[in-house]
Amino acid sequence: MITIYINDQPLTVEPEITVLKAARDNNIHIPTLCHHPALKPSGSCKMCAVAVEKVAVDPAIVLVSFSKMEVRKVEKIVGDRTIMLSCILRVKPGMRLWTEGEEVRQARIKALLKLIAMAPMSDRLRCLAKKEGINLPPAPDGCIRCRLCIRVCKEIIGKEALRMEKLDGRQLVVPDPDRCIGCGTCANICPTQAITVQEDGGIRSVSIRGSVFGRHPLMRCQGCGKYYATEKQIRLMEERTAPHPQVKEHHNYCANCAKLFSNRLMVLEKQPPKQQTNNNKRQ
Ligand code: SF4
Ligand code: FES
Repeated sequence: MITIYINDQPLTVEPEITVLKAARDNNIHIPTLCHHPALKPSGSCKMCAVAVEKVAVDPAIVLVSFSKMEVRKVEKIVGDRTIMLSCILRVKPGMRLWTEGEEVRQARIKALLKLIAMAPMSDRLRCLAKKEGINLPPAPDGCIRCRLCIRVCKEIIGKEALRMEKLDGRQLVVPDPDRCIGCGTCANICPTQAITVQEDGGIRSVSIRGSVFGRHPLMRCQGCGKYYATEKQIRLMEERTAPHPQVKEHHNYCANCAKLFSNRLMVLEKQPPKQQTNNNKRQ
């Protein structure tokens, strides 16, 4: 066993373990993100920074033992501190390090800001930033406020199931689940996939910012039997097309089957009526 000093507290620890393990074994907190006890350390996140007292090899006190053919370097304490990664750094006898303090805080903030630039929506990173006293702007939600979804739902679908609303100091697209018919037009028109549609087990779910605001049962196509539209969507189509003078009856066909049947109908309509032969006439 060897003695090290963490935050000026002497600790007896196993030799060759990492500073992080030594700290954790003694209930001293060091934040980490890329560390996993089952994996080799990679030093990627840099969140585990600690301040370590610098030591230097003094050439005047390098011991050489010719009899044992060994060269042993003797390190002397310089006194300054340097920032090192505790997940990689291994303990040495007499090592002095600090897990808190301004230089450690600055190193963690620097690391955290780089990580947040890569994953600005991460709740975990934002929580760590808050603990370090970093004021971050609201997390991006993938929406560029183009309002295409709001406009299409109002101008084309006529449902007004989406609106812009100020929440927590910023403008957000807010859905009205009672008005949503699950047509998915907003998701189709959204240039950033901030609104998404998923179909599973005959149910279509529409989501924004990762939370579902509409679950709609799907109807099967009368032609091919596949799920193709929500019940509310079909009712809306029926209402819209009912006043058209050429609509005689409604069929629940998906787009493929509707095209197929209307093509066949057009071919049949274009065919000249069959000439009656003499044989036919006699019958
Ligand atoms: S959700 Fe999509 S379509 Fe709607 S405003 Fe945001 S980016 Fe535009
Ligand atoms: S835990 Fe990520 S660098 Fe040490």
